[in-house]
Amino acid sequence: MSTHESASHEGHGTAPFVLRVAPSRSRVLFVTPEIGDFVKVGGLGDVSAALPRALLPSCDVRVLVPGYRQLLARCGALQIVGRCEAFAALPACDIGKLETPDGLTVYVVLCPQLYDRDGTPYGDAEKRDWHDNDLRFARLSLAAAELASGQIDRDWAADVLHVNDWPAALAPAYVAWRGQGTPSILTIHNLAYQGNFSRDSLGRIGAPDSAYQIDGIEFYNQVSFMKAGIVYANQITTVSETYAREILEPAAGHGLDGLLRKRAKETRLTGILNGIDENWDPRTCTHLAKQFEPGDWKGKHANTESIRRDFGLAASRGPLFSLVARLVHQKGIDLVLSVADSIVSAGGQIVIMGTGERQFEVATQTLAHRHKKSVAVKIGFDEAESRRILAGSDFMLMPSRFEPCGLSQMCAQRVGTLPIGHKTGGLAETIDDGQTGFLFAEPSIGSLFGALCRAFSTYSSKRRLYQMRTRAMARNFGWEHSAVSYRQLYGNVAG
Ligand code: GLC
Repeated sequence: MSTHESASHEGHGTAPFVLRVAPSRSRVLFVTPEIGDFVKVGGLGDVSAALPRALLPSCDVRVLVPGYRQLLARCGALQIVGRCEAFAALPACDIGKLETPDGLTVYVVLCPQLYDRDGTPYGDAEKRDWHDNDLRFARLSLAAAELASGQIDRDWAADVLHVNDWPAALAPAYVAWRGQGTPSILTIHNLAYQGNFSRDSLGRIGAPDSAYQIDGIEFYNQVSFMKAGIVYANQITTVSETYAREILEPAAGHGLDGLLRKRAKETRLTGILNGIDENWDPRTCTHLAKQFEPGDWKGKHANTESIRRDFGLAASRGPLFSLVARLVHQKGIDLVLSVADSIVSAGGQIVIMGTGERQFEVATQTLAHRHKKSVAVKIGFDEAESRRILAGSDFMLMPSRFEPCGLSQMCAQRVGTLPIGHKTGGLAETIDDGQTGFLFAEPSIGSLFGALCRAFSTYSSKRRLYQMRTRAMARNFGWEHSAVSYRQLYGNVAG
């Protein structure tokens, strides 16, 4: 964004008269399949609630989300601002608008045929992806392109289209195919989820046949939404600088590393680290059993005791470990299962909360059954309870195989809990090894085990433990810094 400044020097000796014209606020349409206010599956939901709000003082950011059943049940009255016509196999839909109590404008794609269902944004109660996810998210993406160009809301158009992950990634493609000019940014929160569909999707989503090629949306004989975003967006970002480098290699590139290397060479790929909400503050968090400040370790311990009671764990003088995550392979749940017996036999306890792959839900429950007084599992997710667990534990496990950014390790530090994480992605950038948590080099049992030994040894020296907690709590993970980077990027692509 440029600051328009004009100066006139009138005569000698007079101070220059500087007229500052406030730069107009960029209008940004932030498109996401999840927003924490209404529906959240993972970190993307948190980021989508926090980042637009962090940008609001300087940008006119508005959010666009699908009108899922659970969202409509919670959001109150909507004002209908316009309509998208049917296109290819995409049904026509209305676009509703609401304002959250704190002033964030949210547009909602009202298409009951695609979104009015029980289940998650991505699949049914049995965790099978919806069979029509290509249509569901092409509908979101096309609505985004039309809303951004000013065709939907008579009062608003966007200077920049900011789309998040594969469900929104087709929007820059529609912009290109329709010859619209709206500049766009794709943020990759997790490259492992790509939105790949069979070739039939091409006609269903109304993509031109000419786009089905290596420089378009074709990806190993499939249609790839994520690839479409990378091909057509003006700029790509991801959620940490480390992950921005890692995805240039085959191991984390999931087949798209070649294209991403090209984008990196063109300086069209950057990493911008996520922040966390400032309400992650144990002095004021109303969800905690007891609020506490740095140094008040008795206060923190009251939360530990309360977790032990709530989850039926035995009274103990040993450390309490937590794992609050989606229970999926990426998060290294199998590694935690492999070291759990050792943690328990060394006097530790573990509390696990999350949902995910059936095999991990079953295996963690079996583990808890085996160690009734030392391991507790809650399958499900509850925001307030997750905050209590993080604040009440001494250490938080995060042995993710890869982690584009990760938020829990930052939340943990804010509440004086030391994260134990694999040195990858955002974990490598936000955990200061031996100072505010522990990093280990490989996603292997041996490497994790080494970090656990260091954690136990730290726990046995209260002086060191308290020193690390104090350092962890002093870290600032606010959004201010990232918001500046996004704002600059909006200015650059719009300019
Ligand atoms: C995804 C990533 C996670 C990141 C989050 C928000 O869930 O897996 O690492 O923190 O998106 O960007």
